[in-house]
Amino acid sequence: MTTSAPEIHRGLAGVVVDTTEISTVVQETNSLTYRGYPVQDLAARRSFEEVAHLLWYGELPDDGQLRDFHARERALRPLDRTTLELLTRLPDTCHPMDVLRTAVSFFGAEDPTEDDGSLAANRGKSLTLLAKLPTVVAADQRRRRGLAPIPPDPGLGYAENFFHMCFGSVPDPEVVRCFEISLTLYAEHSFNASTFTARVVTSTLSDLYSAVTAAIGALKGPLHGGANEAVMHMLNEIGDPQRAEAWLDEALASKRKIMGFGHRVYKHGDSRVPIMQDALDRLVARAADPEVTRMATLHAALRHAMISRKGIHPNLDYPAGLAYHLMGFDTPAFTPIFVMSRITGWTAHITEQLAHNALIRPLASYDGPGQRAVPGAA
Ligand code: ACO
Repeated sequence: MTTSAPEIHRGLAGVVVDTTEISTVVQETNSLTYRGYPVQDLAARRSFEEVAHLLWYGELPDDGQLRDFHARERALRPLDRTTLELLTRLPDTCHPMDVLRTAVSFFGAEDPTEDDGSLAANRGKSLTLLAKLPTVVAADQRRRRGLAPIPPDPGLGYAENFFHMCFGSVPDPEVVRCFEISLTLYAEHSFNASTFTARVVTSTLSDLYSAVTAAIGALKGPLHGGANEAVMHMLNEIGDPQRAEAWLDEALASKRKIMGFGHRVYKHGDSRVPIMQDALDRLVARAADPEVTRMATLHAALRHAMISRKGIHPNLDYPAGLAYHLMGFDTPAFTPIFVMSRITGWTAHITEQLAHNALIRPLASYDGPGQRAVPGAA
């Protein structure tokens, strides 16, 4: 009897592996919804903390719930002395994503309830990570600039406090708003590579810190979250807006992937891009600076060339990368900022995975050597 060859789905492209109630891309309208709400409406009308509550608990918070959420999140922001010391011991040569990965692993090692996978315990750990990750990212950026960390300010919202911890001041509300919009847009995106990584680790009944540590590793790669940083390197490499087309032709001829373009799910444009591009345009307009205008012109020229040459549209990382640069963040901090947001989606998925767990263990079609004898074996 002959068996037919199994169908291979490289990269799991097109494979539906489970159900989720957290978010979906609605193909017909090319839109993304979190728990049923269009993400562009959430970004326009709600704070990032409200979105975090929605992702974790399934509903937007009422006033009392939001007050409680703020109080608990703000109280958890400070890092203890041991963690701050650990951060200063890491080599300057390591990437800020390595710092974040190490910090989350360390939080797990320090937590005596690390292996308690109950819903209540995991909700507490999720909030702890949401609160502490910005403190780590800000302290690390300051250390690389030769500056002492600035403690969190419990009087400030999540986005404002991050600016305060990075720069010692909070920019005008329009800049904070653009940043908050990026956090909401980055928060969740169904079974993307890092979220799926978190779900795979969780499916073995490992702990939440291990799942998040692994997810950070997956997000770091330039085909995923690392692209927002790579966009900035690419724009710096091109430099002159007049060079954009020639640079692109050369890059495509040498089979380079153009960072910040393309998407596994969206083939006609990432639904999150228009709102982020609008936020970026506002940052450019308020800067009124020739250098910023040059960057924005180059950004637009490359986008135009890529769409006309290849029909491939930008993804969220394309406008977010330049927006973070204009907000004053150092380029290596861009992907860690993505983590500060996506921690909400990852942990919502960890909870969902545990609620209906099945070990994730796919099959492979073997095409290595046939069975053979080990030399010397009888
Ligand atoms: N630059 C050049 N060509 C591209 C790009 C790109 N950015 N994206 C897709 N293509 C081309 C591929 O070369 C391929 O062409 P071919 O059929 O002639 O070989 C075709 O489009 C299909 O691309 P795949 O890589 O097979 O599509 P896939 O769904 O696997 O890839 C991915 C999606 C990895 C995001 C890809 O578009 C890419 O590498 N983009 C650049 C990195 C990036 O921006 N990542 C961020 C993703 S979004 C996020 O994480 C927030």
